[in-house]
Amino acid sequence: MRLRGCSIAGLGSYAPERILTNADLEKIVDTTDEWIVTHTGMKERHIIADDQNCSDLAMEASKVALDDAGMEAKDLELIIVGTVTSDTLFPSASAVLEHKLGANRAATFDMVTGCTAFVDGIVTGAQFIQVGGYDNVLVVAAEALTRITNWEDRSTCVLFGDGAGAVILQPDEPGKGLLSYVMDTQGFAGEFLSLPSSGSAWPPDEKALAENATKIYMNGHEIFKMAVRGVPDIARQAMKKADVTSADIDWVVMHQANKRILEAAADRLGIDREKVVCNIEKYGNTSAASMGLALDEIYRDGRLQTGDLVLLVGFGAGFCLSATVLRWEK
Ligand code: ACO
Repeated sequence: MRLRGCSIAGLGSYAPERILTNADLEKIVDTTDEWIVTHTGMKERHIIADDQNCSDLAMEASKVALDDAGMEAKDLELIIVGTVTSDTLFPSASAVLEHKLGANRAATFDMVTGCTAFVDGIVTGAQFIQVGGYDNVLVVAAEALTRITNWEDRSTCVLFGDGAGAVILQPDEPGKGLLSYVMDTQGFAGEFLSLPSSGSAWPPDEKALAENATKIYMNGHEIFKMAVRGVPDIARQAMKKADVTSADIDWVVMHQANKRILEAAADRLGIDREKVVCNIEKYGNTSAASMGLALDEIYRDGRLQTGDLVLLVGFGAGFCLSATVLRWEK
């Protein structure tokens, strides 16, 4: 069977209005603007409003992507939402979004793969397109991370922000759009980044609340090392599968977790740092949403041009790594 191509036909993102600056954080925990900037590159992050939920962020980004593709929600056949902060564990984030958008024809499911979910969602949605199952797929990565942030832990609370990114996937000519993907999980490292009391192993109880176990736990040092080692490796594998080299890549859009990780990965890959999109200073780490926000930024400001070769690399909880190479056909 000859597979169809799959391209991004619409793109959108959304960040809530309220901004939390490093100066604001100085009033909450024992930290400084200087420490945050030098260790992470972050200056401010957007925070979800009290009357918003994760599905609202997803909806705003989806509307922009639908508009960009010239489509209506009723045309959607499949909605995939990547998030670890869905409004509720069930109904799923994608089912909630289907209702809010009025996308009554669409099938739905979630990807709970953390910071790789934007890539995982695109790769998964593309499979349905490539075999001819669906023609209109919405992939949204949305996070309300500040709802599960431990505001007493200065080593994590300075990092996170909220937002959403969305793409519409549609069929294209064979060989166009998505060129390759590689996904990997190193489950032995799962303990380094987790939400300890969040499932059936430890349902949230008084002890969990007292110990902040319903909030993000991260061993930043270990995750940093795994990212700096793993990102160049998975990126090289994805480029090899696409039969391209670092020199061919026009843009690298990586999970925005730490500016130092972006720079280290760029240097190890031999890719000019200017080609590595970095908007971490404005949004912080928005987990799954970060790559959608970054890709949308270079699309909206005109840096991303038709025909550009884009390398997307996600990494995070699991420990998971996902990379894809795609040709920007819009
Ligand atoms: N302000 C001031 N001092 C701080 C702060 C803070 N906010 N946080 C930690 N420190 C202190 C520590 O206590 C430590 O002090 P000590 O030496 O007296 O013990 C010192 O700074 C250094 O701490 P480290 O943890 O070694 O700092 P590091 O340079 O590793 O930076 C960071 C920490 C930013 C978390 C980094 O490890 C990192 O980015 N890790 C990767 C995170 C990541 O990639 N996550 C991706 C997936 S997670 C997700 O996206 C949801």
